[in-house]
Amino acid sequence: MALLTKAPKGTQDFLPPDTFDWQTIEKVLREEAIIHGFGEIRTPVFEHTELFQRSVGETTDVVQKEMYTFTDKGDRSVTLRPEGTAGAARAMLEHALYNEGFPIRLFYFTSCYRYEKPQAGRYREFHQFGVEMFGAQDPIADAQVICLAKSIFDRLGVKNLSLQINSIGCPTCRAKFQDALRTYFASHHSQLCETCLGRLERNPRRILDCKSPVCSEIAKGAPHILDYLCDDCREHFDGLKQYLDAAGVEYTVNPTIVRGLDYYTNTVFEFVSNDLGAQGTVCGGGRYNGLIEELGGKPTPGLGFGLGMERLMLLLKAQNIELPAHPHCELFIASMGPKALMRAFEITRELQKCSVMAECDVCGRSLKAQMKYADKIGAGYTMVLGDDELESGVAVLKNMKTKEQVKIRLDEDISTQFAAITAAAEDLSF
Ligand code: HAM
Repeated sequence: MALLTKAPKGTQDFLPPDTFDWQTIEKVLREEAIIHGFGEIRTPVFEHTELFQRSVGETTDVVQKEMYTFTDKGDRSVTLRPEGTAGAARAMLEHALYNEGFPIRLFYFTSCYRYEKPQAGRYREFHQFGVEMFGAQDPIADAQVICLAKSIFDRLGVKNLSLQINSIGCPTCRAKFQDALRTYFASHHSQLCETCLGRLERNPRRILDCKSPVCSEIAKGAPHILDYLCDDCREHFDGLKQYLDAAGVEYTVNPTIVRGLDYYTNTVFEFVSNDLGAQGTVCGGGRYNGLIEELGGKPTPGLGFGLGMERLMLLLKAQNIELPAHPHCELFIASMGPKALMRAFEITRELQKCSVMAECDVCGRSLKAQMKYADKIGAGYTMVLGDDELESGVAVLKNMKTKEQVKIRLDEDISTQFAAITAAAEDLSF
């Protein structure tokens, strides 16, 4: 029976009032994306499995071990999206967005699914805010995408984030790098873990991501991609650094960043925090100039990032960043008897139509229990309706904080009276 009352491992429910914080943050992210020229895209939660195999890459942990893949009733293999880039790229091609001219700038909020070992900041269902830009080859585009992420963190007041950048070059310089890596790791053949022995043949770059202590120690001495960049890739990376310098964005060049997905070329970057424990990367991204061609489109440069929403929320909490107060009931109308309840229902409805957060009793409670409830939900004002109030047409509105009481006429427009009373109370509080 526990199965019926417990969410699956690695997933979590988001409940009010925490969901108000999510909405606040999502609003900031959406606004910043729009300021930077991005439009929202929404893609399906599942795609053809092959899309992820081709884009994320057959040799990655995500494709090899972590995908939620199943055969549907039509005998098709489908996969819950492990990330947002592949779906955005597929949609860009399907709807021929390139016909409208470049650059194409898209952003999204998505749930993602990876069968990983859950721990703080790492889940099997998680949420990403992501952006993708297609059709821009110049490093100014890389700088703008990084600046967007930076603007988001700055606007939220996040501190102590380090931006780490690297270039992993184009297929030509990477081939030379792969050879150098293969030679290096082959000389440590006997110490590598089983998985890395396989990687040594197929994709030695993935050994650089290995979490086994022995392999990661060996990886520390591995050759660096930056020493193998061709002239064009070096120039591109230098260009990015110049733009970031011009924007006053601080960064560290970290030649060990390779990223866990295969589609990347040239620029890769991560925003990393020390306040998140082992899962310190709150945002990761880069360029993927070969992806669109891999999916059957014309060669089209692309780049973007994914920002982990859960990690961002954890970071805001760890840094005690204050978010706006949660909205709460402005007026609770308590009532005694069925006639008064009907009037309370009508007034509540009238106020709600005017965007006032009003509530009345819906549980058949006693007056005392209704007042207790009003207290519990932090109602700003209360009003009691009984036979006397209905007869006289006058009720008393009580400010729950100052305990001040003001009369309100039930036969006149209540929302106007309420607005005037709350405005006067706000004036007094300054
Ligand atoms: P990624 O590095 O795999 O990149 O994920 C981006 C971010 O999602 C991470 O930095 C992290 O904050 C969050 N994240 C990843 N896995 C988990 C997890 N299991 N639990 C919680 N949070 C997680 C991508 O997904 C690329 N699509 C990013 C991109 C877009 N590159 C170019 N465009």
